[in-house]
Amino acid sequence: MKEAPVTWQVCIVCATEWQEQFPATRCAACGGLLELRHQPPDVRGLALRERLDRKRGEDSGVWKFRELVLPGATAPVSYPEGNTPLLLLPAPAGWAGVSSLHLKHEGLNPTGSFKDRGMTVGVTQACRVGARGLICASTGNTSASLAAYGARAGLPAYVLIPSGKIALGKLAQTVGFGARVLAVQGDFDTCLRLVEESSQHLGLYLLNSINPFRIEGQKTIVFELLQQLRWEVPDWIVLPGGNLGNTAAFGKALREALELELIDRLPRLAVVQAEGAAPFYRSFTGGFQHRYEVQADTVATAIRIGNPASWDRAVAALRESNGVVVAVSDAEILEAKTVIDRAGVGCEPASAASLAGLRRLVADGTIAPDARVSAVLTGHMLKDPEALLGDRRAVQEIEPSLDAIRSAIFR
Ligand code: F0G
Repeated sequence: MKEAPVTWQVCIVCATEWQEQFPATRCAACGGLLELRHQPPDVRGLALRERLDRKRGEDSGVWKFRELVLPGATAPVSYPEGNTPLLLLPAPAGWAGVSSLHLKHEGLNPTGSFKDRGMTVGVTQACRVGARGLICASTGNTSASLAAYGARAGLPAYVLIPSGKIALGKLAQTVGFGARVLAVQGDFDTCLRLVEESSQHLGLYLLNSINPFRIEGQKTIVFELLQQLRWEVPDWIVLPGGNLGNTAAFGKALREALELELIDRLPRLAVVQAEGAAPFYRSFTGGFQHRYEVQADTVATAIRIGNPASWDRAVAALRESNGVVVAVSDAEILEAKTVIDRAGVGCEPASAASLAGLRRLVADGTIAPDARVSAVLTGHMLKDPEALLGDRRAVQEIEPSLDAIRSAIFR
């Protein structure tokens, strides 16, 4: 008798099953997105918590959860990544109107965004299936991460970016890590379509978050957060939504944590979009009856996405967690960013959408001021230096003398 596999893939649309090593990112039967399934660990509940807690000190905050991520991976391509701090910050909490707020700073990953958690698993799988080249479309962070992990794996990386629309820090990283950058005269959604075509026709391994192995890595944001909270479930988890891969990953992580009795109830998810890039918000307000596509525009270039790819997985995550979606203006995003920056923490604009969205949800009564809230900061402050230096009034030119300093400080 053939042994049951430890890990396999299943189409979320037609339920066709595929082997773990199936290299395409869509179901060959119907074109639906795929999801990974693993044999559950031999223990659950308290025993599983204790086993995971014993691995807290491991270098990689992704691979310390290996049995829930990709049990068969024996030689991960790891930086290492994860193990990001959970910060308790009074000023951002006060600004948003909640009595306490935990901020999980995913910008403190090796390339400065949460993408590294998915990329370590995605590039590991690329090696396992013998990929010869890697490709992604990106608003910047995925490309920086792919470039780094591709270089570490010794595989060529190609990235498609919307020309002129990605933040300087991200472009610089991508070039510096040695990826080939193709700047497309079009938006992110166009880039993603072209990447899917290129991956099919040119034999390159696709590493956007439609790749289910990326999702497995990103689940560990939630596992690690719950572990840092000593497995006490927060009332809300707030995160920005663009292509909705992370929303999908959070939904899957929570579903699995509940099944494995790591937690006894689900927190509610709150997904925050920028008003100029809010197709998912629009759909939410209509009970997810329709799927929308918009021409996206926002200062938060990371989430400047009009046709999110992980739509169905994200709808499932919202429904299961009784979640909400909210949209905030660019002005609110930038105000929230200033609050986070001035707390000595810093983040890129898309990350600040989390805090801006929280503030909205408190103001409209959705989230109670005494709720226990965790919000995710997805990217580092230095990713988008232009968003910081727009206002240069803080920089004052002076003569090289003590008098000049004295008068600058005390006048
Ligand atoms: N925050 C940051 C900093 C991001 O870079 C992204 C996505 C998101 C939030 C949204 O996450 O797409 O999973 O809903 N950036 C992608 C990229 C699209 O190409 O770097 P999502």
